[in-house]
Amino acid sequence: MRVPCDSARVQPGNRLIVALDVATRAQAEDLLRRLEGVPSWVKIGLELFTAVGPAIVEEIAAKGTSVMLDLKLHDIPETVARATASVARLGASLCTVHAAGGRAMLEAAVAAAGNMKILAVTVLTSLDERDLANIGAMGPMSELVVKRAQLAMDAGCGGVVASPGEVSALRAALPPESWLVTPGIRPTGSPAGDQKRITTPAQARLAGADLIVVGRPIRDAADPAQTARAIVAELAAVQS
Ligand code: C5P
Repeated sequence: MRVPCDSARVQPGNRLIVALDVATRAQAEDLLRRLEGVPSWVKIGLELFTAVGPAIVEEIAAKGTSVMLDLKLHDIPETVARATASVARLGASLCTVHAAGGRAMLEAAVAAAGNMKILAVTVLTSLDERDLANIGAMGPMSELVVKRAQLAMDAGCGGVVASPGEVSALRAALPPESWLVTPGIRPTGSPAGDQKRITTPAQARLAGADLIVVGRPIRDAADPAQTARAIVAELAAVQS
């Protein structure tokens, strides 16, 4: 059964996207089994997609779990449009592209997406102001994030991926129907790893995030389902 993309709605109990950041099909299947169906959403990123191929997207979507395919597409418009159409055919609900690819590329992705939502990545949460200067991007970070997000929404994207630290500014700047999806989340006590701009699930929700992406704190937990359940409960407890 293929799940129609527009059935992927955000409700109080399904604001958690678990990142399946693993290297093999066996590890992915093991993590999904250990998650006991707790999250309604999973994110498949470059590691798993390049290791095991597109079939895993179809298989997970067919079981009723919504898939965010996080390939962060960034290429000429024609290439991105054709890749986006392929992603849509797999049954993914969300597909990421880099807002830095520009208006024509963003519009091409949206035109090819069908019912799937295109999410634009504004600035990777692993980057800080010094990194921006090193790659020649004009800061400050907060202004660059809002500028790229507005470009993405003007081009027809369904929402943006951004740091929780920028969510309230984005809520104020973007149309209310924009989906705000935030990685860089760490439940209290979890190590930050390489993420430089982090917050807790509740703080991200309070700031206005619609969906949060959590990878290592769940993947590396002794009991991933219990950790995921605790995050779902923490998110649901926040009054919106
Ligand atoms: O393990 P952790 O919770 O840090 O995982 C965050 C996930 O979100 C990773 O899969 C990473 O690639 C992704 N991501 C991110 N920053 C963005 C967009 C996606 O960390 N701006």
